[in-house]
Amino acid sequence: MRTAICPGSFDPITVGHLDLVERASRIFDEVIVCVMANGEKRPMFTLDERLELVRGSVAHIPNARAAAWDGLLADFARQEGAQALVKGVRNCIDFDWEYQMAQINRDLWPELDTVILPAQTRHLHISSTMVRDFIRHGQRLEGIVPPGAIPVLAGIREGRK
Ligand code: PNS
Repeated sequence: MRTAICPGSFDPITVGHLDLVERASRIFDEVIVCVMANGEKRPMFTLDERLELVRGSVAHIPNARAAAWDGLLADFARQEGAQALVKGVRNCIDFDWEYQMAQINRDLWPELDTVILPAQTRHLHISSTMVRDFIRHGQRLEGIVPPGAIPVLAGIREGRK
């Protein structure tokens, strides 16, 4: 069984993230989308909300599941018996960063490799930062967040009123 992890803050998940998970699910037997607590950032959505958004987004992918982790990614990968991390890159800045992270994660657990997939051109401008701004300013989210996340976002908004 070849297991891959797609890690991220997912604050919130975007269509670019979902594209990465769908492509990883065609390469690996199992894909775990891991929502990282990521201590240094102050997220718009709680860990549980981000997890629900990811869960709703990947529900149509039979070999993908969502999980949350507050710790080192390499430890989560070791616990799950995963062979690879899958990261998406939009440009050379992303690549530079992911290249460094790959070295660190390999140092932490030498059996763990990183697979870097280039983003599709139609997703190059899409980021969680952009989605958060759209949410703050009441813009429509269709086309930038996965269809499965839209009702979850509506539920979160309702619960916060
Ligand atoms: O979506 P993001 O914010 O670009 O994801 C970054 C993330 C969460 C994948 C990265 O910050 C991470 O791996 N955090 C977990 C802590 C860890 O394992 N650090 C080791 C490398 S310094």
